[in-house]
Amino acid sequence: MKHANARAAWTVEDLEADQTWIHELDDGARRALTAAVRKAADPAKTLFDYRREDFDLGSAWPAITAALREVRDGTGFALLRGLPRDGLSQAEFELLTWAIGLHTGVARPQGKASPFMTAVRDAGTVYRTGKGRGYSSNADLDFHTDSADIVLLTCYNVAKAGGMSMVSSSVTAHEVISAERPDLADLLHLPHYFSRQQEQAPDEPPFYPNPIYDERDGLLFSKWNRNRLRSAQAIDGVPALSAQQHEALDLLDDILRRPSVMHAMYLRPGDMQILNNHVTLHSRTEFEDHEDPALKRCLFRLWLAPPDGVALPESWRPAYRAVEAGTVRGGIVGKAYDEARRAFEVRQAADLGMQVA
Ligand SMILES: [Fe+2]
Repeated sequence: MKHANARAAWTVEDLEADQTWIHELDDGARRALTAAVRKAADPAKTLFDYRREDFDLGSAWPAITAALREVRDGTGFALLRGLPRDGLSQAEFELLTWAIGLHTGVARPQGKASPFMTAVRDAGTVYRTGKGRGYSSNADLDFHTDSADIVLLTCYNVAKAGGMSMVSSSVTAHEVISAERPDLADLLHLPHYFSRQQEQAPDEPPFYPNPIYDERDGLLFSKWNRNRLRSAQAIDGVPALSAQQHEALDLLDDILRRPSVMHAMYLRPGDMQILNNHVTLHSRTEFEDHEDPALKRCLFRLWLAPPDGVALPESWRPAYRAVEAGTVRGGIVGKAYDEARRAFEVRQAADLGMQVA
């Protein structure tokens, strides 16, 4: 198929030639963000108590909007540099991340305890188990998509060594595999089974089907996570993968790491990386952390459903719960989803003119 957004099919060469995916905040924008956070911060509030209107992002907002346009209609990812990292405490930096999220979409829950904001740091989790998650480990991660339309990651501290961030275009990978092995490319359009890593909500089964690739309205969508696919193979009721399917997935992972396809970079403190999970896949290398807790690698992660989200393939419904354009969808609902979370979603969706599924 011809992808309606040709720029989503980028190569590393394309990214180097056209750097419109990098956005830089100037001093005025940085001052506006610092002032917005200082003015709104209230230690008596939880994140759910804040409203979009509590934060006037001033001249930073046009730059953030430009980055978000690039995420939706361009390369599918953007790097916004120069958030006011040095002027803010870790808690203020987290609140700044949340404030940008309130202007961008409806935050989605991210796991078993239904958190809407995650501090990505090494908590000693073992990644490759039936309930492992990458964000709380220091492991080398497989190329994967996160479980929401957009993932926004702000960098507060970097590791002592390692922790390199990689992004590849799933659209480019599809073009390559279709050219090299069209027979295997076809297999990737069949449903595959993914484990919920024991984080399922009470109304969800322990696994869900999703093709690696599907189409809707001239756009190609991808969803991939080898760790979850591998753990699903041990769950009752999940069909075993064929040798050909393994071959297709191995070739996909090989293509994603080719130097012409994989963009690698180190995030710096004050950087914000924004990814469109439908057209990009990401990964990270293992890292060695600092001894001092105050210096340990720390990123803040938000998963978001934006008001201008396009309609998803019907095959995305088991994972996303809703596929209609502009709906509140995606996330990992988890086991602690409660009235407060629901009330936040309903209020935030109303503020952005969105439908709650
Ligand atoms: Fe991720």
